[in-house]
Amino acid sequence: MVRIAVTRRIDPDARSVLENIGDVTMWDSDLPPDPEQLAAMLADSDAALTLLTDRIDGPLLDRCPNLKVVSNLAVGYDNIDVPACTARNVAACTTPNVLTQTTAELAFTLLLAVARQIIPAADAARNGDWKTWYPFRFLGRDVAGLTLGIIGLGRIGLAMAKMGLAFGLNVIYTGGQSNNEFREVSLDELLQTADIVSLHVPATPATHHLIGRRELAIMKPDAMLINTARGPVVDTDALVAALHEGRLFGVGLDVTDPEPLPADHPLYTFERVTILPHIASASEATRLQMSDLAAKNIVAVLEGSEPPHCLNPEVLADA
Ligand code: GLV
Repeated sequence: MVRIAVTRRIDPDARSVLENIGDVTMWDSDLPPDPEQLAAMLADSDAALTLLTDRIDGPLLDRCPNLKVVSNLAVGYDNIDVPACTARNVAACTTPNVLTQTTAELAFTLLLAVARQIIPAADAARNGDWKTWYPFRFLGRDVAGLTLGIIGLGRIGLAMAKMGLAFGLNVIYTGGQSNNEFREVSLDELLQTADIVSLHVPATPATHHLIGRRELAIMKPDAMLINTARGPVVDTDALVAALHEGRLFGVGLDVTDPEPLPADHPLYTFERVTILPHIASASEATRLQMSDLAAKNIVAVLEGSEPPHCLNPEVLADA
């Protein structure tokens, strides 16, 4: 029987899909295995259902001679060294599409929350700091008529752009697929003209610190920054410095660098910064679909058929 490692608790239906074809070992914790525990778990596995908190690289793969497929429960795969997988004939799979709308909805939720100071206002109410009707407290910004700059018009960026349009925002973008509905501009023009900058690029060497000191400096002083992509796309120290200088109206982060962001991190000291613990795809329906898809990727590879989403299909052709 094939051996399948699952590196965190997943829903029972997805687990059953895997149990139909093999022996499943599930990491029985809400916290991830450390690198040594991960290596031990995967060492004699034929397949692994992994999370974005698991680093899958060459040295780890070298300790897993039987591994044929790594299926990430995520659309992002910066935790996986895909060329290292390809070099070892390991299929690397992901779960795109099913989370597009859910992730964009969370990004738009952050946009509205930041624009209308939802978190500080809700905290004030909860903490007994609601004494009267305040004519000039928690004043936000109307988003209709503002310019939304999408960095990375991929699936999620496009869904966010469409929501922006529906809310009366003027949408511009840079990078990703070209689209006639929205105006494409250079990165600098976007940064200089957008009232809201929303990040939708994968974490790659090219996007590392894409938003750094220079980029923050050319953004409008009262702009908003929304990051639901990956933490390292923003230079955290540069962001803290910009906030100390009084720049930016507000920031919404579903992803941070580092992650998790330690409770004593300076970013938490700014009332106008809203930080979420990487929950953009966390709707019940979407996480179930992601689990199902991740399991189906594994079943397909082990059964020799085409998996729904493989990053290196050349490995399958060689099998
Ligand atoms: C979550 O961040 C994902 O990549 O699916």
